[in-house]
Amino acid sequence: MNKETCRIISLPKIVDPRGNLTFIEGDAHAPFEIRRTYWIYDVPGGEKRGGHAYRTNHELIIAVSGSFDVVIDDGAARRTHSLNRSYYGLYVPPGHWRELVNFSTNALCLVLASGEYDEADYIRNYESFHTLRAGT
Ligand code: TYD
Repeated sequence: MNKETCRIISLPKIVDPRGNLTFIEGDAHAPFEIRRTYWIYDVPGGEKRGGHAYRTNHELIIAVSGSFDVVIDDGAARRTHSLNRSYYGLYVPPGHWRELVNFSTNALCLVLASGEYDEADYIRNYESFHTLRAGT
């Protein structure tokens, strides 16, 4: 299983008195080729999303609006990343259990992914994740 670590990636920020602008170009800013984009929104207060790992899918998670926390578990340690700036992305390699919590009102979570949606790529059972992770 993938041994890369999660990290915050700074995206370009074009500061302008008319309003700031951030962009992501091809694979220049994400450490993988982007094959899919999805977003999570209208999250009711107190709800959680995620709660799974991927076998091969890489993701870049961005708080385009509002804020939320991403709890990452690499099988050995758990770390919480608070996202609240639209010019930072959290890179999550495969093999990391991730949960999205503490969504603010009107939070918009944009996710860039390396693969198309494939349920077979999900590890939804935490014990299976731990066993897989421990065996690598
Ligand atoms: P899922 O990734 O399981 O979200 P969460 O982990 O937050 O519960 O996605 C929920 C459902 O949405 C999933 O069962 C299938 C569908 N889905 C797609 O069809 N395409 C996608 O790209 C994603 C991310 C989800």
